[in-house]
Order: sequence, then structure tokens, then C-alpha cells
Amino acid sequence: MLGIIGAMKEEVELLLEGLESEERLDYPGVTLHRGRLDGLDVLITVGGIGKVNAAMTTTYLLTAGATQVVFTGVAGGVHPELKVGDIVVSSDCLQHDVDVTALGYKLGEIPGENLSWPADDGLQALALEAAHEVEGVNVTGGRVVSGDVFVASPEKVQWLWQTFGAACAEMEGAAVAQVCARHGVPFVVIRSVSDTADGGANVDYREFMPIVARHAKQVVRGMTRRM
Ligand code: ADE
Repeated sequence: MLGIIGAMKEEVELLLEGLESEERLDYPGVTLHRGRLDGLDVLITVGGIGKVNAAMTTTYLLTAGATQVVFTGVAGGVHPELKVGDIVVSSDCLQHDVDVTALGYKLGEIPGENLSWPADDGLQALALEAAHEVEGVNVTGGRVVSGDVFVASPEKVQWLWQTFGAACAEMEGAAVAQVCARHGVPFVVIRSVSDTADGGANVDYREFMPIVARHAKQVVRGMTRRM
């Protein structure tokens, strides 16, 4: 069963509209919507913002029977060539706000864990194929970095690019990845660029988020149709 998470209502409501035979599963603070999307058994949920919400929701999804997970939503573009509307499919995810360097670990490295979590090859290929069907946007595979921070400064963008080779920055993907890895469950993160995480990011985000969230949703539907 495919688990689909978005951080916000806007990111998943377009998918919920297509859900058939819907049944609600209520967990503390989170509702999972189980049903069929394009003939495929799915669980869809709004996970909330940030890494803690993402980890908690992913755990519920896996407990309810998800055997693969797709995260869909928007992100701030970090790769210099990314523009609003473009799509990033995760090659891997990393937590850019983890800093245990004082104990000799690399920036982003959680002691005892991988520095980054690779997305599943098959899900990446499927997402890239589906993303190429979305008209008028560039599609790229790349590293998705996550932290409990809305990035809105050119210096931080430069830092994320130089330190981690990040394609885009968001607030949930690596937490989903970490939980999935613990469970041995494949995942991929699909992000549409709503802003370029610089000084104008807050204005761009508000303007473009509802529009570009559709792109990520189109990719997920392209995937479910192929599965
Ligand atoms: N999601 C969308 N834009 C973002 C940004 N600039 N920083 C973090 N998360 C985001």
C-alpha cells in the first residue's frame, strides 16, 4: 500500500478529491484517509509542518500498513538554476539543522545514522517519468535538505548549496526518510519550487505555494496511474 504525505492541506487536498471508497483512520492529532486512487490502495494524510510532525505521521502511516511512501509538497529552491514551478525528485535527504560537529561528526550527521538517506531507485525513476509529463516546468533529481527553519536568506541558500550540494530546502523530507529507513520501507520526496529561499521567499511562497503544489500532485497522480 502506498502512503502519501503532504505537510499542508493545500498539498494533499487535490489528491483527496480523487480518492475512492474513502475510510478515515484517526490517530492522535492525525487522520489517515485510506482508499483507492487510480485503482491503487493508498493512505493519504496531511502531516503538519516540520520534522517532528513528519516523523510522527510517517510512523502512523507505516503502522497502518504503508509499504512505500511518497512525500509531496513545495520547497525553496537552492540549486542556482532552479526556478519557481520546477520540480525536484529526491536522490537523497539530509537534515541540515543537525550539528554534532563538536563531537567530531559531520554537519548534518546524527551519531549512529547515515549522513543522508537515499531515496528508492524505482520510486525515483517513476517520479521522474511522471514529472516529465507536467508541462512547462524543469525537472531535476537532487538532494533534498530538511530543517525546522523556513529558509529566507541568500547567505543560507549559498551555505546549503556549498555545504551539502542541496537542490532544495524544506522542512519534512529527511524526517520521513529517516523513519522509512528504520522500517526498511522505500520512499521518495517530490517537491515543487515555491520560492528560491532568498530575501523574497516569504512573499513568493505565499503567492506561488497554492499554484505550484499542483505540480507535485500531478506527479503523484502520474505515479499512481503507473503503479
Ligand atoms: N518550503 C517552501 N519554501 C521553503 C523555504 N524557503 N524554506 C523551508 N521550507 C520551504
